[in-house]
Amino acid sequence: MQIHLSRPDITEKEIEAVCAVLRGPNLSLGPKLTEFETAFAEYIGRKRAVAVNSGTSGLFLCMLALGIRPGDEVITTPFTFIATANSIMMVGATPVFVDIDPVSLNINAEKIESKITEKTKAIMPVEVFGNPAGFDKICEIAQKHNLIVIEDSCEALGSELNGKKAGTFGTMSIFAFYPNKQITTGEGGMILTDDDELADICVSLRNQGRSKGGEWLSHERLGYNFRLSDINCALGIVQLSRIEEIKAKRKQVAKWYQEMLAADERLIVPAEPDNCDVNWFVFVVRLADRFTLQHRDKVLAAMNEQGIQVKNYFPPVLLQPFIAEQFSCKKGDFPVTDSVCKSTISLPFYNNLTRDDVATVCKTLKDVLD
Ligand SMILES: Cc1ncc(COP(=O)(O)O)c(C=O)c1O
Repeated sequence: MQIHLSRPDITEKEIEAVCAVLRGPNLSLGPKLTEFETAFAEYIGRKRAVAVNSGTSGLFLCMLALGIRPGDEVITTPFTFIATANSIMMVGATPVFVDIDPVSLNINAEKIESKITEKTKAIMPVEVFGNPAGFDKICEIAQKHNLIVIEDSCEALGSELNGKKAGTFGTMSIFAFYPNKQITTGEGGMILTDDDELADICVSLRNQGRSKGGEWLSHERLGYNFRLSDINCALGIVQLSRIEEIKAKRKQVAKWYQEMLAADERLIVPAEPDNCDVNWFVFVVRLADRFTLQHRDKVLAAMNEQGIQVKNYFPPVLLQPFIAEQFSCKKGDFPVTDSVCKSTISLPFYNNLTRDDVATVCKTLKDVLD
């Protein structure tokens, strides 16, 4: 028996759409690229969408387009996937970490102001695991201090706060489509903005610095090849057309976990926060405070041994050696992050997980804890 941590949900419709592209003449920079971007911008409710080959490329291009450079500071969360902090460092800027809120696990808005200096250019918050709680407060602080918000929405497609979609909070917002995400293109990402100039810079940067309507071998700036092929876009178009179905399935799986685990006082089980409509990316429970890191690691090992794939989402970004060394970060600097990171257990979570699968995962977890 094996229950995977994550599985894509690909139907015949996606397969047909990809095959249709393969039978045609345009494998890249064709009509599917424009169709995917248009549908995505419309779904999120923003003026422009620019498809790229990964969420990381999208984050990096936003940093470049916004002119973030060496000497600038960008305030961000230590409880995220490494690419968030990396994108700040890729342009030579300095990530300034702020501890997280113990409930939402997002950057703690209350603690941001004390980290703002003359060098601060932007705040880069992340809707961790798909949860947009606190983003209204983060935006208020950014506005008060005239800071740009670069919204790393890579985990939050389809989530909403007060009826406002993830991806509408930042001057620029970024989504990612790796196969464990709410929708996948195999690999891929999308930049969202209402600013035509920023979007046009990203279009040029992703395509070797070419100009709009310019010659193929004419390059107006230093650029990259971060293009997303029409094959990936065709997959994305069908996946996006199924977003409501996908969201309903993920909500159902989350609900089963909540029903089966919430009463267990050894666990902290995520609930949908007030005013939020969460399209969960992963479903991460935590061990109660009295458990140690060693306990958690034993639980992970025991469950994996029994065929239930589980993972420690995430170790603190700032303790990755190359970051800790460069920015003199150490354990204890961010107590909430430390305490959360030592207790996380990411459970199997994907659209087509059955109630029986969830029951098996929960029973195994409880047996291991016993
Ligand atoms: C918060 C966050 N930011 C950025 C990324 C990077 O996306 P990609 O893997 O497509 O480069 C991810 C992907 O897991 C993520 O979770």
